Amino acid sequence: MVAVLAHIFNVVSPQKYLQVVTQQRNFKALPQNFNPRTGLITECLGSVMRLTVDKSLAFGSQIEFDAINGSQVLPLTTPLAVKCGFSVESDPWGKTRVLVSLLNCFAKNEDDSEFDLNMRVRVRGINKAEQDVFEVEKTCTYNQWAPREILCDRNYMEVSVNRLPGEITALKRQPRMAKEQTFDQWTDTVSEAITSRYNIWRMVFFTPKQKAMVLEDALNTGYGITTTRSRLVLRSGYDMPETYVENVNGVPMKVIRVTTYFKKQWSVTMLDTVAACPTGGVVFTDELITWNFPLVTPLMSSTENKIIGMVMGIDGKQIDSAQMADRGYSLTTTDTFIVMTLPVGGQDGYYKSHCVNDQYHIRYTIEPMLELFWSEGGFDATRYKVLFPIKTPFMPRPPQSVDYTAVDQKVFDVLLGTFLYDVELVNITFSTGVLTVVEANARGFNVQEQRFQNGSKTFRLQVSFSDPVVVTNQVDLVVTVYTLPLIYSFLILPEYTPFSYSTSFKATLQDVILPTVSGACDKEKFHIMISFGNMGKNFNIMLGTRDLTPERSVDYDVKENGTHMILAVPFLAVDVAFELMYPSSLRARLDVLLWEPTNKWSLSDFSLACNFPMTMTECFSNGSMSALAVKVQSVSQLVPRQLTLRDPKCKPKFSNDRFAYFSFDANSCGTTRTFYDGVMMYQNEISLGDEPPISQQAIKGVSIPFVPEYRVTVSCFYTVNDTQTIAFFTNPRESDPLPETGFGELQVLLRLALDGSYKDFYVEQDFPVGRLLRKPLFFEVALLQSTDPRIELVLEDCWATLKEDRNSAPRWDLIVDGCVNLVDHYETVFHPVSPDGVQFPSHIKRFEVKMFAFVQDNIVLKNQIVVHCDALLCDVNQTDGLCKKLCPSPIPLKTARKVRRDADHDQFQRAQLSSGKILLSSS
Ligand SMILES: *[C@@H]1O[C@H](CO)[C@@H](O)[C@H](O)[C@H]1NC(C)=O
Ligand SMILES: *[C@@H]1O[C@H](CO)[C@@H](O)[C@H](O)[C@H]1NC(C)=O
Ligand SMILES: *[C@@H]1O[C@H](CO)[C@@H](O)[C@H](O)[C@H]1NC(C)=O
Ligand SMILES: *[C@@H]1O[C@H](CO)[C@@H](O)[C@H](O)[C@H]1NC(C)=O
Ligand SMILES: *[C@@H]1O[C@H](CO)[C@@H](O)[C@H](O)[C@H]1NC(C)=O
Ligand SMILES: *[C@@H]1O[C@H](CO)[C@@H](O)[C@H](O)[C@H]1NC(C)=O
Repeated sequence: MVAVLAHIFNVVSPQKYLQVVTQQRNFKALPQNFNPRTGLITECLGSVMRLTVDKSLAFGSQIEFDAINGSQVLPLTTPLAVKCGFSVESDPWGKTRVLVSLLNCFAKNEDDSEFDLNMRVRVRGINKAEQDVFEVEKTCTYNQWAPREILCDRNYMEVSVNRLPGEITALKRQPRMAKEQTFDQWTDTVSEAITSRYNIWRMVFFTPKQKAMVLEDALNTGYGITTTRSRLVLRSGYDMPETYVENVNGVPMKVIRVTTYFKKQWSVTMLDTVAACPTGGVVFTDELITWNFPLVTPLMSSTENKIIGMVMGIDGKQIDSAQMADRGYSLTTTDTFIVMTLPVGGQDGYYKSHCVNDQYHIRYTIEPMLELFWSEGGFDATRYKVLFPIKTPFMPRPPQSVDYTAVDQKVFDVLLGTFLYDVELVNITFSTGVLTVVEANARGFNVQEQRFQNGSKTFRLQVSFSDPVVVTNQVDLVVTVYTLPLIYSFLILPEYTPFSYSTSFKATLQDVILPTVSGACDKEKFHIMISFGNMGKNFNIMLGTRDLTPERSVDYDVKENGTHMILAVPFLAVDVAFELMYPSSLRARLDVLLWEPTNKWSLSDFSLACNFPMTMTECFSNGSMSALAVKVQSVSQLVPRQLTLRDPKCKPKFSNDRFAYFSFDANSCGTTRTFYDGVMMYQNEISLGDEPPISQQAIKGVSIPFVPEYRVTVSCFYTVNDTQTIAFFTNPRESDPLPETGFGELQVLLRLALDGSYKDFYVEQDFPVGRLLRKPLFFEVALLQSTDPRIELVLEDCWATLKEDRNSAPRWDLIVDGCVNLVDHYETVFHPVSPDGVQFPSHIKRFEVKMFAFVQDNIVLKNQIVVHCDALLCDVNQTDGLCKKLCPSPIPLKTARKVRRDADHDQFQRAQLSSGKILLSSS
């Protein structure tokens, strides 16, 4: 039944425990097989009787005692116990020891040597009306009475002295009793004087002032005063008014000193009685209790004291030296003290848990006994017995935690202890709330109570890092700290005193896999993939200089699953930075930063730059040009709308904060035109004009570190029927001019007019055109579309071949180096172009040849010809070279035909023109 206290639960279950306790509280009567006698043990221990009530009988119950005086049953109240020689002491589990002086008020005393004691024990379950009543009867024999016997019990001091001198004589051969000045003169009458039981005349208490009382008053005050056949017994509580404290070598002692006067007829006898009991003298260390008892006490009247016997006991019972050695007790004397030492924690005492200021403490309790037998000057033997319950001070025992956590297992494994057997774990407060032990175990925390052999216990607990009760905190990029804050709530049994203990366990783990970014480009977008790592999506995404908001997530087509995120950012998006401009592409960069918002850690920094196809400069055949200027990152202060062409009046046709779009004619806005080697180049420049750069205005510092200039040269590079565009983006600091190539077409056409009016022309579908021999063919070479009047179209060579291949033989030159072929029998004739009907006469050349046929050995080879021309574009004002060749006057001489051209001529870009087939008509 009591086994519950010793039971070892592997898994702590206070509920179970409480249930058992409750059951025990409910018992009505003792079970059938329970012999109450085993729970009630009586022993005669010298001058006292000890009744032990086992905790099996008392646990969870209220226990009360009655004294029995004949037929009278008297509940043993505290004053009655003091007055009549009873003391009751219980340990917290109900084990109760009642010590009864044999000289108590109620024992049937047979000749001061046999004492019949009757008591009743009442056991009542708490809150129960019924009670079990046990009668206790015990007869103790004790006839070793010393002339003076002093008993210091837990709640009273008792002294008894022999009042029959004859008997004293018999005992000690010296008729002396306690200190008494006038004894001798009344010796003869004492025997007579005290034959009756209550003939005490008066009593004088020394406090130390004298205070006289009649017996009645003394009894009413609460003193126990009785006479037996041979003895006078005086009993006093420690706190009675006529007691006093005397400091004996530093040890406080309670003293009661009374002189009792017996009166019979004419004679008066007086007896001195004194008792002195220590109330201190104990010194504690953590391991040892030392009890100092003064060698010389107020009890002693002379200095010639001799200690005859000295015995130690526990719980009112003597123990022998073997037992003392076994328990580690010692009893020695010094000059001034009898010294008893007892180790703290020995088995004769007990530990108990306490909660002091919400801190866990323990205390050890033991009740040693010291019995002395001494004589003074060879006479007047005194037997002195002191029962001395000792409680150590509260000893703080702050719980120690042991952390068995194996970090790589990711499970907290922690132990808290040690606690005494009387502590039960009830619940644990986690960061998320309170769980009882049962609930915690249901959740898998495996709360275990582990017991040592001495009954002490520890509590072990296992919690996975991933459980929500664990607080995680990422302290830096890769280190996570797991914290398990705990408040253990305990109960101290059997009082159900609650206390709690807060602690916290920490584990540090490098277990973070950081998110990563990767990406690629297609022709329009950056494709970014973010892989989350193992911390989930606990980061913010910054694109360029802005955090990605949900709205832009839609624009960027963000898609996300549990582990990855993809997004597609158009290269013209605001978050993209432009690095460099090429004529037909734009180098753009997307910066992706993943950052952790709580600590502002940068988790991943990613940059991707790609060239995206984009027409930056366009050159149209009619001489129009367009150019797009973008704000590049290196000139971040640029305001695109402030950009102009060379002519500051030429502002962007369109602009926003990142782009400026210009569209202009080749002969406006300060566009220059350059010819070299037959190539024509229009050029303009986009810049901030003459205004100082914005940054210079903005920065008023002493040194201006870097004021980038923005200057984009836009070039259109034309060759005949093939246009090249070149734009230079100039950034002086980066000195990184980037030739760019754009595409356009300057169209030059060779066509055959119907007649010399050059009004109508054959179209492609008309070929082959038929023509009679020697009939004129009117050719025109024209630069189409261009609106630049400063261009002159120049015919370099024109010739006829038999086949369509312009390099085939045979061949007949019509125009050579811009002049008519003088060896031609059938003269080629240039026709001036009049301004009537044509907008730009310099863009057109006209010439006339007569239809002919190739003849070899007087045989007409084939009745067809094909005419070819090479044309150049020249400045109208150019005065030398091919462009303004002065043709020699026609000399009818056959000269050697020029076969090869000068090397530099080959570098000219030429429009290579050919007519369709012209057939020789026979009619
Ligand atoms: C015990 O009983 C006797 C006889 O009835 C009585 O004289 C005495 O006062 C009682 N003692 C106490 C302490 O009540
Ligand atoms: C019980 O034993 C354990 C382990 O040996 C020890 O740590 C603890 O202090 C002991 N408890 C007491 C009250 O002596
Ligand atoms: C936890 O146990 C303590 C101590 O027994 C008690 O005071 C407290 O009420 C309990 N808390 C809960 C939520 O059960
Ligand atoms: C999430 O998307 C990534 C990339 O598309 C893919 O590799 C991964 O398997 C996906 N995960 C799940 C759980 O669908
Ligand atoms: C030249 O051609 C472009 C493209 O067709 C056109 O936008 C522009 O207006 C033209 N310019 C002139 C002066 O005709
Ligand atoms: C010039 O134009 C003609 C006809 O459009 C074309 O056949 C020829 O290849 C062009 N020349 C060059 C150098 O592109």
